[in-house]
Amino acid sequence: MKIITDTAALTAQIHTWQAQQQKIAFVPTMGNLHAGHLALVKCAQQRADKVVVSIFVNPTQFDRAEDLYAYPRTEQADQTKLADINTDLLFLPDVAVMYPNLVHNNKAAVCTIQVPEMANILEGASRKGHFSGVATVVAKLFNLVQPHYAVFGEKDFQQLMLIRHMVRDLNFAIEIIAAPTVRESSGLAMSSRNGYLTVPEKQTAAILYQTLQSIRETIIAQQQQGLTIDYPRLQNQVMQILTQQGFTPDYIEIRQQTDLTPPTAGQTALVILAAAWLGKARLIDNLAFNL
Ligand code: PAF
Repeated sequence: MKIITDTAALTAQIHTWQAQQQKIAFVPTMGNLHAGHLALVKCAQQRADKVVVSIFVNPTQFDRAEDLYAYPRTEQADQTKLADINTDLLFLPDVAVMYPNLVHNNKAAVCTIQVPEMANILEGASRKGHFSGVATVVAKLFNLVQPHYAVFGEKDFQQLMLIRHMVRDLNFAIEIIAAPTVRESSGLAMSSRNGYLTVPEKQTAAILYQTLQSIRETIIAQQQQGLTIDYPRLQNQVMQILTQQGFTPDYIEIRQQTDLTPPTAGQTALVILAAAWLGKARLIDNLAFNL
């Protein structure tokens, strides 16, 4: 596996592959890799001749400096995991390489991408500026890597929809591939944040996905019985159930898959999105389904 830290060397390698007509797939990450990330790389390998993974803890997507500094950095272990599954290239830039104009973490000095509406709801409402930071760094990485395909996990459903929206609006000639969420046997979605859970909390955490599954069954049953589904009432009930189970829910929302707006009559492609604190971990999960 090649490891490249600067943009000139990355561009040279990309140009070589392009001249050889190689298809390139890209997996952006912030490191601290687990089985979920490695599944994204394997998905990329099925599509393309060459796979580029980036590890960059992106400062512009953190709304709190403490979270940025506390973010787990496991570079050596990450490199070993990527090399073991035959990743072709690891792009490992530092902040000065990615953001030459970001001096003293002054985000106002950097050109950014704003994704209207979708960026300020759900995760975006709880984490101000987060999705502008995500869209900005992903667009910069797309410009550098120039991939044919880019793979994102369905675990971050809102991020995936936002990237698709940006790619359409800004005419990136990149196919966005969605990879299914990788789960523990308990159903808990794999996440770097699970490392903040104690052993008993990890058992409780599995209830989040079970709850999403039971909401889906309730919605399908009500629809089959021809009942009008009262989504806000259902959401409130579930917030209460999760609170009783020891979670501090941030939101439970049933939305339309494509634009994440509340469902209107006749909409069939839905997604249930959840964010809830459990101890020190803020867990997010989702379940997409069709009526
Ligand atoms: O999902 C992530 O890990 C990050 O948001 C991403 C896409 C790598 C951008 O920093």
